[in-house]
Amino acid sequence: MNPFLEVAIEAAREAGAILLQEFDRPVKISYKGEVDIVTQADKRSEQAIVTRLRTHFPKHAIVAEEGGGSESESPFRWHVDPLDGTTNFAHGYPCFAVSIGLEESGEPIVGVVYNPVSRELFTAVKGEGAYLNQKKIRVSPIDKLATSLLVTGFPSVKRSQNPNIHYYWDFTLRSHGVRRDGSAAMDLASVACGRFEGFWEFGLHSWDTAAGVLLVREAGGTVTQFDGRPYRLGDRELLASNGHVHAEMQSVAASIAERAATAAPLS
Ligand code: IPD
Ligand code: CA
Ligand code: CA
Repeated sequence: MNPFLEVAIEAAREAGAILLQEFDRPVKISYKGEVDIVTQADKRSEQAIVTRLRTHFPKHAIVAEEGGGSESESPFRWHVDPLDGTTNFAHGYPCFAVSIGLEESGEPIVGVVYNPVSRELFTAVKGEGAYLNQKKIRVSPIDKLATSLLVTGFPSVKRSQNPNIHYYWDFTLRSHGVRRDGSAAMDLASVACGRFEGFWEFGLHSWDTAAGVLLVREAGGTVTQFDGRPYRLGDRELLASNGHVHAEMQSVAASIAERAATAAPLS
């Protein structure tokens, strides 16, 4: 097995076990922002992942959401979300995941998303396909927005300045529906395995997307910005789809953006 993938899987499983332990206890919440929360589970999980990555790859850079990472000159950079779906976790809603992605000079090359509750392990290596619990996965074949199931997310910072409510409303009326599952990593993994035809969000970070973007691409899907420019790690706007509904989603988004620009801001 690819040695990077092997270590990422070990780290994700160890972190997943920590999350399950913490999920059984009363959750102690601290606030990073008005509705941006962090728990002991986020911190313990991150520490376990970062320690393991450093032991195996001491020269690699690590970007980790809770601040435990470190810079280096290496072209290899890990992007770690130790608990994607903290709000769900804190409310006892069992949809959350560990997300670990590796880039080489800007290109995602390994991705692991692990949901410890459902025991779903999504893995991908660039050029080698995407897998769910070791079975190869593909995006869905649906080719019309009207018969698509979509998913999106809303950031926990500056919510009132985020345009997404306009997109949510419009895409809901034009499709089978739009879910809001609360974990961007799981949203991307779900596009990769064909549960959703499309996912979009504004305001994501590289730790939310590094693993999931590779899963979607390796499962045959497409990931860009809304205007079709290629999505790069760190871009705040992302449109991921099975590829077949991509152009239709882009053109709907363009008309929504025009309208949203003239709408009154939410207070
Ligand atoms: C959040 C989740 C959520 C998305 C937010 C993210 P966190 O990550 O992925 O689905 O809508 O933008 O910040 O804070 O739970 O790691
Ligand atoms: Ca996240
Ligand atoms: Ca997180």
